[in-house]
Amino acid sequence: MTLNNQPQTALITGASRGLGLALARYLAQHHWQLLIDARGEAALRQVERELAQLTRVIAIPGDITSETHRRALAHAAESLGGLDAVINNASILGPSPQPHLLDYPLEVLEQVYQVNVLAPLGVLQAVQSTLKPGMRILNITSDAGVEDYPGWGGYGSSKAALEQLSAILAAEKPEWRVYWVDPGDMRTQMHQEAFPDEDISDRPLPEESVPGLIELLSGELPSGRYRAQEVGAVSLAAIQEG
Ligand SMILES: NC(=O)c1ccc[n+]([C@@H]2O[C@H](COP(=O)([O-])OP(=O)(O)OC[C@H]3O[C@@H](n4cnc5c(N)ncnc54)[C@H](OP(=O)(O)O)[C@@H]3O)[C@@H](O)[C@H]2O)c1
Repeated sequence: MTLNNQPQTALITGASRGLGLALARYLAQHHWQLLIDARGEAALRQVERELAQLTRVIAIPGDITSETHRRALAHAAESLGGLDAVINNASILGPSPQPHLLDYPLEVLEQVYQVNVLAPLGVLQAVQSTLKPGMRILNITSDAGVEDYPGWGGYGSSKAALEQLSAILAAEKPEWRVYWVDPGDMRTQMHQEAFPDEDISDRPLPEESVPGLIELLSGELPSGRYRAQEVGAVSLAAIQEG
């Protein structure tokens, strides 16, 4: 996708596997420039080599909770000419199996909040001067952020905080498009960690959540909360109707 013959550029955190990788692959095939990260360097470099066959990609290994890493992302965003999209996708579940709240070690919960709540805001603060007009922010949340599933109090409350943070950011920046997005169940490493004893082979692949994200990146939907698999189904139906 290009705008005024300029390639569009997306920052995707946590793009070495799962949903982040599925989205990165789609955008690379559609000629978006990419800025990607993950903590594990080997997997990230492998993804970088794959995507570099298709587009310009900068991969920066690091932890989004590190201010130094976020600054490095911002410098790279500048070198790519600014950002058309920020996808705050990187996240952790916390312990597996997940402890009930009264047994949840607070220092571990603090780490979950660092990654799932504070770091996405930190990323936006770091890259704000590189955001182009018309850009979109996608904060990836979860149904666990709005449902009261027993055992999901740590991760779920962190996603609830990310949802509310996103809603207030949207209210503070009415000229922006800010989306907080439940991608739906996906067959990924995180999902297997969440259900350690289950066969998760019936869950949809992360690729099935990508069309909804693309609709949010390229359509005209107003800021708000969306479910990727629903948005994707609606946009696919519209394309089929012509
Ligand atoms: N899977 C589901 O069913 C499901 C359902 C609802 C919502 N979600 C949400 O969807 C998003 C993607 O989840 P997923 O299932 O694709 O997860 P995943 O397979 O575990 O992938 C997570 C990605 O984030 C990276 N990451 C984790 N912590 C990081 C950190 N501190 N700094 C930088 N990168 C980090 C991981 O690489 P490293 O480990 O190498 O850093 C990996 O690339 C998450 O926001 C998740 O909460 C998932």
